[in-house]
Amino acid sequence: LSCVVLLLLLVVAVAPPASAAAITRGDFPTGFVFGTGSSAYQIEGAVAEDGRKPSIWDTFTHSGYSPGGATADVTADQYHKYKEDVKLLSEMGVDAYRFSIAWPRLIPDGRGAVNAKGLEYYNNLINELLRHGIQPHVTVYHFDLPQALQDEYNGMLSRKFIDDYTVYADVCFKNFGDRVKYWSTLNEPNIEPIGGYDQGFFPPQRCSLPFGISCNNGNSTTEPYIVTHHLLLAHASAVSLYKEKYQDKQGGKIGLTLLGSWNKPATQTPEDIAAAARMNDFHIGWYMHPLVHGDYPPVMRKNVGSRLPSFTAEELKRVLGSFDFVGFNHYAASYVKADLSKLDQKLRDYMGDAAVRFESVPFFDLKNQSSPWVLREMLEHLQVKYKNPVVMIHENGAASVADPSGDKALDDEFRSRYLQDYIEATLQSSRNGSNVQGYFVWSFVDMFEFLFGYRMGFGLYGVDFNSEERTRYRRHSAKWYAGFLRGGELRP
Ligand code: NOJ
Repeated sequence: LSCVVLLLLLVVAVAPPASAAAITRGDFPTGFVFGTGSSAYQIEGAVAEDGRKPSIWDTFTHSGYSPGGATADVTADQYHKYKEDVKLLSEMGVDAYRFSIAWPRLIPDGRGAVNAKGLEYYNNLINELLRHGIQPHVTVYHFDLPQALQDEYNGMLSRKFIDDYTVYADVCFKNFGDRVKYWSTLNEPNIEPIGGYDQGFFPPQRCSLPFGISCNNGNSTTEPYIVTHHLLLAHASAVSLYKEKYQDKQGGKIGLTLLGSWNKPATQTPEDIAAAARMNDFHIGWYMHPLVHGDYPPVMRKNVGSRLPSFTAEELKRVLGSFDFVGFNHYAASYVKADLSKLDQKLRDYMGDAAVRFESVPFFDLKNQSSPWVLREMLEHLQVKYKNPVVMIHENGAASVADPSGDKALDDEFRSRYLQDYIEATLQSSRNGSNVQGYFVWSFVDMFEFLFGYRMGFGLYGVDFNSEERTRYRRHSAKWYAGFLRGGELRP
């Protein structure tokens, strides 16, 4: 017996500490989903083909507002290359592919006639994925609002948006829901209103404050809040429709996807610590608080006052608890300082109401910004403050500056390392009780970037944008991810 004890002691003494043990996907909970993703406007191309009509992003890029005058007219051309892409996804061994449906392809005028060619394309894509054993995780709306709805009633600023969106979502559930088991109603509705209705870096560039980015006709002090209110109600309306009409029959799950930047204090002063907490309420709490606690965060009520819309009892019933999961797109932390003088200003917008200013927005230098503990902190915050919802990391990845020479052998070991760090952090959070159930690398291939055009790419695969074929090139990170997904060690 003493020999056995001695042997055991020896084994314990030489065994590496638990945290340094090799991690494989087998360490994740059963059913944990690994995938990668894209969005329609960014990857499809074929913007004027088979009946698709313009979205507000076509209008924006064609007016020259994207870096380098970029458009997504062709981009990575997935519309024509979806079979080849599904083959690559299958070779990589992902469980799931996250993509979005283009509203202007499915219902080109935003409301009314459904485009048979649009139905055909998404049916083909979904079927091709399923044939290869890949689950489709579908975003209903990812920024590409039909231009017709913008022209007719100012898009999301109008309550009419809620009805048109719900009808569009119904078309998606009805036609694809027999095969799609994961629906996200909206992508990043907590940044779209800032870009489009406060600061003007997104269409429709409605804003009123002098931010130096081309703006017109808007009102930054009220419109971001109105647009968010409508987005929340549109989300809740689609979810209640899904739950009433489809969920029992189709057996899917539904949620929404938020940008999950995590705000940290720039210094450890009480003012900056409070500022970071305030910014997280303005950013994540803007949606999570109504969804989980039934109203906007108290600090928003206090600082925004009567400019913040209210929920009727009927609306609240719909909004509260309207998700099976929440997706988070996480890249890095932002560092913020308190700027309480903003509260004295007569005209205040979102940042003014939050009374903070950013010290750094590291998003622009992701290559050097691996801070996976920030993701853990955010997940812990969700556990504590929002009743530990089921979470999908819907986006996480690192951009590199595109190589204008089209270097096909781009070595992106930095990206592999970044992803390894964040996957490990995800596992640690899961072990600490977070309900995180999926992780999707952003992005599958290089494609049009909303803020950078083609100057930055996040792809596991590179794309030669100079070739008519839009040839894909497998990067180090794609090879590494495939190895991990096939059972290899996280850090080989
Ligand atoms: C968030 C958006 O959902 C996605 O469209 C974008 O490409 C990435 N972040 C990176 O900017």
